[in-house]
Amino acid sequence: MSGAESTESNLQENRRFAPPAEFAAQAHIGSIEEYEKLHSRSIAEPEAFWAEVAEQLHWFKPWDKVLEWEAPDAKWFVGATTNLCYNCIDRQVEAGLGDQVAIVWEAEPYADGQPQVVNLTYNDLLREVSKFANVLKSKGVQKGDVVTIYMGMVPELAIAMLACARIGAVHSIIFGGFSASAIRDRVEDGKSKLLITCDGSWRRAKNVPLKANVDEALEMTDLIENVIVYQRTECEVHMTVGRDHWWHDLMDGISDDCPAEEMDAEDLLFILYTSGSTGKPKGIMHTTGGYMVHTYMTSKLTFDLKPDDPDELYWCTADIGWITGHSYIIYGLLPNRVRTLMYEGAPNEPGPDRFWDMVERHKVTKFYTAPTAIRAFMKWGDEHVEKHDLSSLKVLGTVGEPINPEAWVWYHEKIGGERCPIVDTWWQTETGGHMLTPLPGATTTTPGSCCRPMLGIDAAVVNSDGEEVPNNSGGILVIRKPWPSMLRGIYGDRQRFVQTYWEKVPGMYCPADGARVDPDGNFWITGRIDDVIVVAGHNLGTMEIESALVSHPDVAEAAVVGFPHDVKGTGISAFVITKGAVPAPGSDAAEAMKKSMSAHVAKELGPISKPDQIRLTEALPKTRSGKIMRRLLRDIAAGNEIKQDTTTLEDRGIVEKLQASG
Ligand code: PRX
Repeated sequence: MSGAESTESNLQENRRFAPPAEFAAQAHIGSIEEYEKLHSRSIAEPEAFWAEVAEQLHWFKPWDKVLEWEAPDAKWFVGATTNLCYNCIDRQVEAGLGDQVAIVWEAEPYADGQPQVVNLTYNDLLREVSKFANVLKSKGVQKGDVVTIYMGMVPELAIAMLACARIGAVHSIIFGGFSASAIRDRVEDGKSKLLITCDGSWRRAKNVPLKANVDEALEMTDLIENVIVYQRTECEVHMTVGRDHWWHDLMDGISDDCPAEEMDAEDLLFILYTSGSTGKPKGIMHTTGGYMVHTYMTSKLTFDLKPDDPDELYWCTADIGWITGHSYIIYGLLPNRVRTLMYEGAPNEPGPDRFWDMVERHKVTKFYTAPTAIRAFMKWGDEHVEKHDLSSLKVLGTVGEPINPEAWVWYHEKIGGERCPIVDTWWQTETGGHMLTPLPGATTTTPGSCCRPMLGIDAAVVNSDGEEVPNNSGGILVIRKPWPSMLRGIYGDRQRFVQTYWEKVPGMYCPADGARVDPDGNFWITGRIDDVIVVAGHNLGTMEIESALVSHPDVAEAAVVGFPHDVKGTGISAFVITKGAVPAPGSDAAEAMKKSMSAHVAKELGPISKPDQIRLTEALPKTRSGKIMRRLLRDIAAGNEIKQDTTTLEDRGIVEKLQASG
């Protein structure tokens, strides 16, 4: 069963899971009544509510005003100054807790059967981050400059991002699975002059050639003046004299004194690119104060974090190259003074029990992963789970895509031992932090629903006039009031920001997800309402994949749609009009052509964008006005019976041909 199919069956879902009494008794928010009271107040008096949260953090200068709002522009904590790196590190050190472990890192590959584990204390972080901040300064980086980071999951990635935050540089992190052209596009869009990378990174015992990808990207742009290379895999790399520098050389002997810069609450903290419905990725802008407050509070409440429990160990399996890693490995966690686990490698290396082996060895208490990973583990077999003691776990989270009830129940039974509340968190790169989610001590959950709005979040399901629709009717999900970690814009593209998020339903933030609310007040996400598909928890723009395909020499035109996929939730299906004659379906020539197209997309965009299906064709189903009938393509890709009216099609025979070529 796939995530997409499950959306249909969710209407029948009626299983309920109340938080265990013992858990609720110790939780920050221990009942639904308490949640409802707090939520109502947070919506009625947002400024007082958020000010109380913000007061739990360090500010150099307090705010004059909590919020200035004129849609779509929000300014939070107006006039205040702070530093997020200071809140992540210095604050703990100054409280005399510098010896506590902040980050636990586990490497791949396993050397001699023993995994390499590194513990970084707040003192270690302060020293390394300050040194690297001085390295950045020595290379001319100033407050407001955009620094591009393209690294594997090594502690130095966390150190690099925190160093940027420390001196007020704006980081733009690129997921290590992206390709050279993605690096070039992001460097150019951000006008970045400095890039930090690794020689390579380990994934399934193979070297991912990060530096070689950077070299290829930098042949296409000359903006970058300095490249800093952290040596991880010791693979052979080419170092361009004058431009490329080894991390260890620059760190050698540099001062570890670098006070955190006083940042305005609205100073830009980072840009992170996400796919949109048109070809070009959007550089989502997040600022300092609001993002800090929101990720701090949501980390604490969603995972019921307990800084004073020495056993508390939180593990989010995402890569820091995605928003989940930004917000819920580093920035929301460290100010909560809870140990955060970072891992390098893959869920099935050295074996399909890697995660459960890690949970057992590290005694993980709070665990956060994606439905696609859960479905993969289900497929690999329960025996890999059953051989491990998972009794340390207390809360389980999911993120990135709808979770189908079967996967939810498996997670609950096999991983959570039927005792751990599951938090299905709905949010986006743009929202910065959790928006809809159960609270583990308060919410009675139901598989497949992300339940209720987070405190301070005014969510609703409306029609295109902004009117709330009745329970169980599908509509558009909107957020009606500003929240602290909301995106402040798309880097360099004001018009696109306004059009994409604020014009579909005037005056409200529109995330482009469909949803419904059930009679209990629980939200159900029904899928994207734009041309973005969520594949294995990652947002991919169908147009971006189409333009990558069209740049292949054999492709004349391409249309990309999603289809239900057992593990990824949604798979990528491409319909390609070839330039020359279409090779016979199933022939070696057809297979070779598809393989070459797939490899081309992987090279242009990265392996996650590779189509799962390619159909070669001489034509696409188009209406007489020339519009590709995407709904029809979705049905063909899913193998569904075609029930739609195809009379408006220019060439009706094309549908049968496409069905036969799959
Ligand atoms: O469609 C929603 C889906 O992922 C989109 C956001 O993708 P991205 O910006 O890459 O961020 C992913 C990590 C936060 C959303 O618009 N999505 C995310 N979480 C869920 C979800 N769909 C259903 N349930 C979720 N819990």
